[in-house]
Amino acid sequence: MAKVQARVEAALERFLPQASIAPQRLHEAMRYAALGGGKRVRPLLVFAAGEAAADDPARADPLRLVIAACAVEYIHTYSLVHDDLPCMDDDVLRRGKPTCHVEFDVATALLVGDSLQSLAFQLLAEHKLSDDPAIQVEMAKILAIACGSRGMAGGQAIDLASVGRTLTLPELEHMHIHKTGALIRASVALGARCSNTLAPAQLARLDHYAKCVGLAYQVVDDVLDQESSTATLGKTVGKDAANNKPTYVSALGLARAKALAEELREEAQAALSDLGGGARRLSELADFIVLRKF
Ligand code: IPE
Ligand code: IPE
Ligand code: MG
Ligand code: MG
Ligand code: MG
Repeated sequence: MAKVQARVEAALERFLPQASIAPQRLHEAMRYAALGGGKRVRPLLVFAAGEAAADDPARADPLRLVIAACAVEYIHTYSLVHDDLPCMDDDVLRRGKPTCHVEFDVATALLVGDSLQSLAFQLLAEHKLSDDPAIQVEMAKILAIACGSRGMAGGQAIDLASVGRTLTLPELEHMHIHKTGALIRASVALGARCSNTLAPAQLARLDHYAKCVGLAYQVVDDVLDQESSTATLGKTVGKDAANNKPTYVSALGLARAKALAEELREEAQAALSDLGGGARRLSELADFIVLRKF
């Protein structure tokens, strides 16, 4: 996984315009937000799904996977930059550094998000990701839907509209699978399509895995906001309660939120059961996503 992270880090750097290119301040801010931080979980999921979907895990094409991984990570980074803005969660610390709008300014942070989003789709259009052009177009569509108003951005809208309210469990699940789950699901879907040897039934099982880990990801994020530390997370803890956000912790309490994450981990593992040894890294990532401490 460290090898994949290093490969992705280098590619993320390479595809971003140099800070010396005009408009310098925007490019500097894009690089500030995107480089040198973050767990890179979504890129890891892209690679792991690519391995699971290849005839032989060793033959998954890293040149294709790294493009899909960067596209997903640029979208994720844009979502974090916007999520931290004063009009959203109003956070000052991200990935152990001042947030983008604090280090630069709000308008620049807004444009960083816009530009990272465009860069993601530029990559999907510029590089060959499949022998089948129809699949390549499908991949762009998957990412577009996942980050738009029916996916991440829609989930964020629900999040903002839910401040100060008590949500039912189905409402909470709906919010979480959109704001966080959708992009995680797209990561797995894109990785699998870079290899594209899976039958529809196997793709459906992979998608079920992704839905489970996508929801678990935000449940654990809610738990960590409550019980971790700012130093460990590199973002200010206790913000959900301070901002009056409904979360799995406010709805269920810590113990039951953790039990739910554990159930989702088991369900994710079960979904992998007949995908064979190629799914080993996906299995390890499900464990990481639920058992992580940061
Ligand atoms: C944080 O995501 C925001 C969520 C969608 C839960 P990550 O926990 O993946 O943040 P980084 O990328 O590692 O900083
Ligand atoms: C993140 O949810 C959802 C995004 C799409 C960014 P949070 O608002 O809980 O993420 P953190 O805790 O700030 O990383
Ligand atoms: Mg938020
Ligand atoms: Mg936030
Ligand atoms: Mg959070």
